[in-house]
Amino acid sequence: MKQSNSAYRKSKEKKHFDKLGVNYDVSTGNVDRHIVKEMQSKIFDEIDLDDVILEIGCGTGIHTIKVSENVSEIIGVDLSTGMLKAFKRKMKTNDKISVVLADAEKLPFRSNTFDVIYFVGTLHHIAGASGTIKHAINEATRAAKSKGKILAIEPNADNLYLSLRFRLFTAQKNSMYERPCRISELIEAFRSNNLRIIKLYTIGAIPRFTPEKFLPFARFLERALENMDICRFNLGFICISSIKDRC
Ligand SMILES: C[S@@+](CC[C@H](N)C(=O)[O-])C[C@H]1O[C@@H](n2cnc3c(N)ncnc32)[C@H](O)[C@@H]1O
Repeated sequence: MKQSNSAYRKSKEKKHFDKLGVNYDVSTGNVDRHIVKEMQSKIFDEIDLDDVILEIGCGTGIHTIKVSENVSEIIGVDLSTGMLKAFKRKMKTNDKISVVLADAEKLPFRSNTFDVIYFVGTLHHIAGASGTIKHAINEATRAAKSKGKILAIEPNADNLYLSLRFRLFTAQKNSMYERPCRISELIEAFRSNNLRIIKLYTIGAIPRFTPEKFLPFARFLERALENMDICRFNLGFICISSIKDRC
């Protein structure tokens, strides 16, 4: 039987990440490392030490491993065996972390389990492949405890540089179907799952090609832009935090 279009696209995404595996971390440069740190500081703002956390689309564990330093338990879920293999190789022994092979749209967890669930750079793959961000948020909402938090940090389609970068490189260098998210579609996906949005802003304004020696100045400019109201929704990455009020 012929696979549905979204199942076909999802399997292509999986293949892309299976092949990428260990090379995912190697491909990150100084600018990426800087934005990764900034993203992690935004996750730290939302978690407490005794929280049980789920990262959906954990990849090689760049964020999972760092976040594990500040919580009692964290589970990383990913669709790709190649990415999880790279994660496990890097992780060594860490009692706080477990990794699970699963699809964001069909999580193998009971309802009301996690204090905080977060996505970093995962929803924009789901958006492009199966186009069902709402399903993924719905599954996360089910797995979150009442009053639990659901966060996402995703590339912003309303940022000119980012959306050009995706147009130029997608299908050649990146995965075939990834596309940046629109703020409005994230709002819609969160609200339609009865999540109360508590924070919505954007971060990141340094292009990847910025030479290392200009980074301190670029960071200074970036911080200034991040504090300007006019740039609130136009920078590179959307950060959205929400609370599950109803069971
Ligand atoms: C760009 S990587 C981000 C990895 C990690 N969060 C990070 O920031 O380094 C996107 C990850 O999402 C995973 N992914 C894509 N679609 C998924 C789905 N439907 N369910 C679970 N994981 C998925 C991919 O396998 C990949 O590891």
